[in-house]
Amino acid sequence: MAQKLSYLPLSLPLLCFLVLMMNSGELRVCSLDQKFSRDDFPSDFVFGSGTSAYQVEGAAFEDGKKPSIWDNFSHSGNWQGDNGDIACDGYHKYKEDVQLMMDTGLEAYRFSISWSRLIPNGRGLVNPKGLQYYNNVIDELIGHGIQPHVTLSHFDLPQVLEDEYEGWLSRKAVRDFTAYANVCFREFGDRVFHWTTFNEANMVAMAGYDMGMMPPGRCSISLFGSNCDKGNSSYEPYTVAHNMLLAHASAARLYKKKYKAAQQGSIGINVFSYWFVPYSNSVADVIATQRANEFYVGWIVNPLVFGDYPGIVKKNAGTRIPAFTNAESKYLKGSIDFLGVNHYATTYIKDRSSSLDTDNRDIMADMAIEMAYGRSPYKGLQELLEYLKHVYKDTSIYIHENGKATPSTGSLNDTSRVELMQGFIGSMLDALRNGANVKGYFSWSFLDVFEIMIGSKFGLYYVDFDDKDRRRYPKLSAYWYSSFLNGRNKNKYNVVEIKDISLDSQQSYIS
Ligand SMILES: *[C@@H]1O[C@H](CO)[C@@H](O)[C@H](O)[C@H]1NC(C)=O
Ligand SMILES: *[C@@H]1O[C@H](CO)[C@@H](O)[C@H](O)[C@H]1NC(C)=O
Ligand SMILES: *[C@@H]1O[C@H](CO)[C@@H](O)[C@H](O)[C@H]1NC(C)=O
Repeated sequence: MAQKLSYLPLSLPLLCFLVLMMNSGELRVCSLDQKFSRDDFPSDFVFGSGTSAYQVEGAAFEDGKKPSIWDNFSHSGNWQGDNGDIACDGYHKYKEDVQLMMDTGLEAYRFSISWSRLIPNGRGLVNPKGLQYYNNVIDELIGHGIQPHVTLSHFDLPQVLEDEYEGWLSRKAVRDFTAYANVCFREFGDRVFHWTTFNEANMVAMAGYDMGMMPPGRCSISLFGSNCDKGNSSYEPYTVAHNMLLAHASAARLYKKKYKAAQQGSIGINVFSYWFVPYSNSVADVIATQRANEFYVGWIVNPLVFGDYPGIVKKNAGTRIPAFTNAESKYLKGSIDFLGVNHYATTYIKDRSSSLDTDNRDIMADMAIEMAYGRSPYKGLQELLEYLKHVYKDTSIYIHENGKATPSTGSLNDTSRVELMQGFIGSMLDALRNGANVKGYFSWSFLDVFEIMIGSKFGLYYVDFDDKDRRRYPKLSAYWYSSFLNGRNKNKYNVVEIKDISLDSQQSYIS
């Protein structure tokens, strides 16, 4: 208890003290005391920001795109009826968005390809308009010197494959995913050097098949009011992760055999990861904390680095987790060039071994933990990066997502987001200085996209969803990030100006 209440002091540079002055539509930001700058990071480190196809593109049924499981889930009464049919209308506004990235000074942009836009039937014919769209986006980025970092699957399997063979529950998805990846490598690989097979592979399995909160929304144990009319929370998450791991390894092998020599790119996978800290120094809580790491990260990453699931995951899941054959194990091992990590928070972990006594356990019960928030988050990123370096043989890491939710109707004056980015970037720098092999940082999200947490937005840019033109407005965080990035060759990067927006128009858009 004592530990929960004591906030660890930040070892990080003091958070920047911001002074904001508003006058006649111009906002000035004075960053007075930030003890690091872009120059403290290696020049080949990349700073960017990200989105995903379903959350930004819109044009959900346009130019030959067919539904993904996310379209289906949104239109089945989930997310309070909200959906990504139009989203940010990124499909039509990519040029404007790349210009905003330029204005912000992004070095890289992380986005995903919609499989059912590129190959509407899940396999077979390529949609020429889908192909053209992604070629356009990639060319626009390259033309402006921004590196594309591309995710192949971000929660949006083609619905047709869900209907035909229940998607990731079937091994057939391995073959179709590999063929889709082949089209992407062949068509875009001359310009894309960073490929991620799956976004949050662990959350696809847990949120999609245990909790039923994400597409395809399958579950048998109702949490958070999910509609569990189909699914099996005890078995399906393990089957799905297993098939996704095989699909990752298959695509990675294809890339290495057929493309890598000529294209010189790299391929990895992404996981959602907290940093976990024992709630007390009891042996049970310390062991539970390690177990939480094995279930969240090890479940996905151990097979790809060492060729098998962690022992404790196999033990607690028993016969519900499929086994790899020796040949599969060899094939998986060493199949990531980098690990992408989506990191938002640190939580305390308390042992709850009693949950292992229940029948029909789900993965949460197998994990046998309780979580409690409370610790100041920033140092957790440093600790996570150092842990990953130690456990995963110095695998390269990209922070693919990090950011802060604020209410969707909140202010453009998002000082809390600026503080958070400073805190986490400073923590990452501490890890780097201690030898962590971290190669890049992407804030989530570039724009206020269609969000999983309805009512919250993460963007550096506000998007007015009531405006049919979906106009974008920079938040303070966009200016802060821009000044940080442009500080590359300057000692001072403390004054930025908000052009383009007056307080009056801001207030009429934001309550
Ligand atoms: C979602 O998919 C199921 C299964 O194919 C189908 O029955 C249902 O009509 C779809 N719902 C929507 C809203 O498209
Ligand atoms: C989940 O699947 C297993 C194995 O097929 C079965 O024994 C169990 O009853 C299923 N659970 C539910 C809730 O359907
Ligand atoms: C922005 O928020 C900060 C912190 O809450 C406050 O000090 C500042 O006055 C605000 N600036 C404007 C322009 O509203």
